[in-house]
Amino acid sequence: MSTFQAPKGTYDLIPPRSAVFLAVRDTIATQVRNAGYGYVETPGFEDVNLFARGVGESTDIVTKEMYTLTTKGGDQLALRPEGTASVLRAALQANLHKQGNLPVKLWYSGSYYRYERAQAGRYRHFSQVGAEAIGAEDPALDAELIILADQAYRALGLRQYRILLNSLGDKECRPVYREALQSFLRGLDLDEETLRRAEINPLRVLDDKRADVQKQLVDAPLLRDYLCDACKAYHEQVRELITAAGVVFEDDPKLVRGLDYYTRTTFEFVHDGLGSQSAVGGGGRYDGLSEMIGGPALPSVGWALGVDRTVLALEAEGVALDLPAATSVFAVALGEEARRILFGKVTELRRAGIAADFSFGGKGLKGSMKDANRSGARLALVAGERDLAEGVVQLKDMESGEQRAVALDGVLDAVRELLG
Ligand code: HAM
Repeated sequence: MSTFQAPKGTYDLIPPRSAVFLAVRDTIATQVRNAGYGYVETPGFEDVNLFARGVGESTDIVTKEMYTLTTKGGDQLALRPEGTASVLRAALQANLHKQGNLPVKLWYSGSYYRYERAQAGRYRHFSQVGAEAIGAEDPALDAELIILADQAYRALGLRQYRILLNSLGDKECRPVYREALQSFLRGLDLDEETLRRAEINPLRVLDDKRADVQKQLVDAPLLRDYLCDACKAYHEQVRELITAAGVVFEDDPKLVRGLDYYTRTTFEFVHDGLGSQSAVGGGGRYDGLSEMIGGPALPSVGWALGVDRTVLALEAEGVALDLPAATSVFAVALGEEARRILFGKVTELRRAGIAADFSFGGKGLKGSMKDANRSGARLALVAGERDLAEGVVQLKDMESGEQRAVALDGVLDAVRELLG
């Protein structure tokens, strides 16, 4: 072991578990690609003010969890704590919204950083796959995204997740609710810090996890009862569309998200096998974000699914993904001449698109066959001096144990035939 360890709150993705992460990313990506979302990649760090303005000055993410740094040139940067503000910034910078093709639909996959209290399922470096539909106010777009996330989780084989749905209103109705909630909160027996939060960001108080606080919140006014007619009608359409698609959800009038840019539709995918860090994904509409970061009005909606927690959810449910073995053919060479010839065969197979690996390190038959087994390969190519003298190699089916001699120049055809 080296003297260095992965930093606190982080971990390394290593085989074989890393293959599950790739498969999760792939499965989510397949759904969004299939729905017309184009791939976008933005830098791992941005101007710190993008997040301060976008995610919200009073959020935990901005006040406590951002990794900020000043460059040698004096720029104030932050490692990205989330993807939405960056993706919208990139779309605005490239004028994607001016090309008459709204909504701009983008998806992304990458690393995000939050200086959080590390615990199971909550890391300081984590991975998301996200999708954003920028520049259209259309309940079908909100529905599309919820349906796609649901489809991704289903395709992975997850069952024990639930979809929580809420509307956070818009700039017409939310301020009225905010005031009603604030005057309710002022009458409660709350500690200093919570009272302060009630003044800055009262909706966040609804999300307080402490039982004594929750007890006092039972009669708190609900945003649901304050929604304006436009928000109500919009939300009803989203509900109808996802219901028609057979997606089961729960109305959760107390669902608040940890980022300030949300308006109207908000949702979270929670998994019941994960303990306190149960949100495997979340998102919603953010109609005001573009203007908050200096752009034109561009009503938008999106989500991000947490790859780490999705893998934990798969493990909690005992779902084993059907991952194809990385290697189809493993070559075992005994002696120098066999090494030279089989190494050439491995190259030939790879050039033909067949996944092949080789017994490196000059091991004997026993050690090399162990490697062949471990690789998960369907077939082993084995050759020693005697085989080569006869101009053949042994082709062994690792499942049935059957073995036959194949002429050297017939290896590719024989392998193709056996692999189907
Ligand atoms: P979020 O709810 O902060 O939303 O993060 C989305 C998902 O990322 C969470 O549901 C969770 O699975 C995962 N995640 C977040 N923090 C951590 C952590 N510390 N450790 C492990 N996993 C974590 C957003 O980030 C928004 N940008 C989503 C969005 C896109 N809204 C609109 N468009």
